[in-house]
Amino acid sequence: MIDVIFGDVLYSNNLDLDTQAIVKNMREPLKAEINKHKQTRSSDSSLYVLEEEQHKQLKSIINAELYNYANNIMKYDADFKITTSWFTETDSMEQSQYHQHQNSFISGVLYLNVNEDSGSITFEDFRDEQIKVPCTEYNVLNGNAYTVQPVNGLILLFPSKMWHIVNKNKSEHKRNSLAFNVMPFGTVGVPTADSHMRIKLI
Ligand SMILES: [Fe+2]
Repeated sequence: MIDVIFGDVLYSNNLDLDTQAIVKNMREPLKAEINKHKQTRSSDSSLYVLEEEQHKQLKSIINAELYNYANNIMKYDADFKITTSWFTETDSMEQSQYHQHQNSFISGVLYLNVNEDSGSITFEDFRDEQIKVPCTEYNVLNGNAYTVQPVNGLILLFPSKMWHIVNKNKSEHKRNSLAFNVMPFGTVGVPTADSHMRIKLI
């Protein structure tokens, strides 16, 4: 018998959405995903896309997925709020660098305009790199990288601490997605512990 302990959980679901219509509804995309570690972004693009009135229904769809991941699957006994959300655009031959999402607990991405050549996403675990023992096959027990080939309507939710990279867009078309960060709010931690606190999000 084996037990997999302390594993990270990547959540995915294919949503039946009119992704083309959502893209048409978006304003200026944010390039932050490309330069995430530099925290740069174009000044006129929004970090609060899902707060806009025209995306109200999309926000409730994403919140339902978030609830399923955080409360039903992870069994977190807390409320969660999407703190930031931004529309990303990756041009042909562009890619991101490895990054984590800071000041966030859960992160997510909804793919809106992708094709099979426009770049996958790879999650990587950099924790255990000192001794690399070769394996006869790689799986979730021994691997340290996991790649997802996105399709339109796919939503991923993952711990914000997970390092990831958007691989090169080898197609001639722009690649678009909606990314977002999530924080718990209200009372978190064990009441008797010194880490117990109340988080109020504005
Ligand atoms: Fe990211």
